[in-house]
Amino acid sequence: MENPFRPTAGATPPELIGRAGILDEYAYGLRLRSGAPGLLTIFTGARGVGKTVMLGAAEDLARSQGWAVVSETATRGFMGRIGNAMRRLADELGPGPHGRRVTALTAAGFGITTQLPPEQQLEWREEGVRLLRLLEEQRTGLVITVDEIHAAERQEIAQLAADVQHFIRMDLPISLVFAGLPAAVSNLLNEGVATFLRRADRIDLHAAAVDEVERSYREIFADGGFTLSAEQARRAAEATGGYPFLIQLVGYFLWQETERISAEPTDDMVERAVAAARRRNERVVIEAALSTASGRDLDFLRAMAEDDGPSATADIGRRMGARPNTVGNYRTRLIDAGLIEAAGHGLVRFAIPGLRDHLRR
Ligand SMILES: Nc1ncnc2c1ncn2[C@@H]1O[C@H](COP(=O)(O)OP(=O)(O)O)[C@@H](O)[C@H]1O
Ligand SMILES: [Mg+2]
Repeated sequence: MENPFRPTAGATPPELIGRAGILDEYAYGLRLRSGAPGLLTIFTGARGVGKTVMLGAAEDLARSQGWAVVSETATRGFMGRIGNAMRRLADELGPGPHGRRVTALTAAGFGITTQLPPEQQLEWREEGVRLLRLLEEQRTGLVITVDEIHAAERQEIAQLAADVQHFIRMDLPISLVFAGLPAAVSNLLNEGVATFLRRADRIDLHAAAVDEVERSYREIFADGGFTLSAEQARRAAEATGGYPFLIQLVGYFLWQETERISAEPTDDMVERAVAAARRRNERVVIEAALSTASGRDLDFLRAMAEDDGPSATADIGRRMGARPNTVGNYRTRLIDAGLIEAAGHGLVRFAIPGLRDHLRR
C-alpha cells in the first residue's frame, strides 16, 4: 500500500475526519431542488482547515444526484469562465431557442473580462435560464462552486449574486457554494455587495477532535500493515491539534519513515515525523497567513504568545499599551483573517496551530 496521506491543498484525504453531518442540509437542498437554504452554502475557516476539500465533497454529492457542476476559483475573470462553462453545458443538453449553438468565437470573449457589457449580461442570464430549464426537465439542477472567494473582484461577485438571485426568484434549480477565509466572507456579507448571500448557510470549519485523529491514524496504519501503539498514535494525533493540514503532514512523514524500515515505527520516528510536519506547516501555512498582518497586528499576536493558553483581551491591551476599543478593533481584524478565534467571554486563542511557537521564536 502506498502512502495514503495527502498533505497538498485541496487533495482528498484518506479519511474526512470530523465532518460527519456537515453536508446534510446541502443534501436536503439537492433533494428539494429550489428554495432550500442549504442550496446557498458558504464554507469559512482558516487556511488548511479543509475548505477546498469540503467544496469537492459538495460537488461529488451533487454529481451523484445527477446535477451539473461548474467549479471555479475566484481569480480574475471567473464570471466569464462560469458563463462559458454554462453555455457548453446548455449546448450539450440541447439546441437553443432558434437551434443556435454558441460558436467558439463568441464564447472566447467571455473568459477575460471582469465586467460584461449590459447586453451580454442579459444574454448570459438568458443562457442561464435556458440551461436551468433543461436541467429542471431532468429533475436535477446546476451547482456553481467558487473557491478562494477572498480573491474575488467585488464587481464579479455582485454580478454572479444578481444572476443567481434572479434564477432563485424564478424557482430554477440552482445552488451556489463558496469557500473563503472568514475575513473575506464577513466583509462580503457586510458590504452589501451581495446581500441575499446573508441568507446562505454559513459553515465555519474547525479542527477535528484529537481522539478522532488518533483512531484514524491507528486504522490507516493498520490497513498498511503497520502497528502504531496507543501512545504513539496519541502523541502523533496530539501534535496535529486536530488541524487537517497537520493531520496529513504528520501522517505522511510518519508513513514515509515507517515504510523505509518496513517494521513497527519507533518513538523516535514519531518525533521526527512531528518535527518535519511542523517545519513544513510553518513554511506553507503560517508564513502565508502572516503575510497580510500589519505591524500592530503582530504586536497583538506577540502579546497573546506570552500566554500558554487562551489570552484575556484585557491582558493583551495592557501588554500592547492600547485602549480597549483599539484592542477590540484588532481582535475583530485578526478573527476575520482566520489568525485567532474567540474562546469564551473576553478570551481569544490562536486559530492556527504552531503560530504561538512561531511567534515566540
Ligand atoms: N476533514 C479532514 N480530515 C483530514 N484531512 C483533511 C480534512 N479536510 C482537509 N484535509 C486535508 O487538509 C489539507 C488542507 O485542505 P484544504 O481543503 O486544501 O484546506 P483549505 O482549502 O481550507 O486551505 C489537505 O491536505 C487535505 O487533504
Ligand atoms: Mg483552499
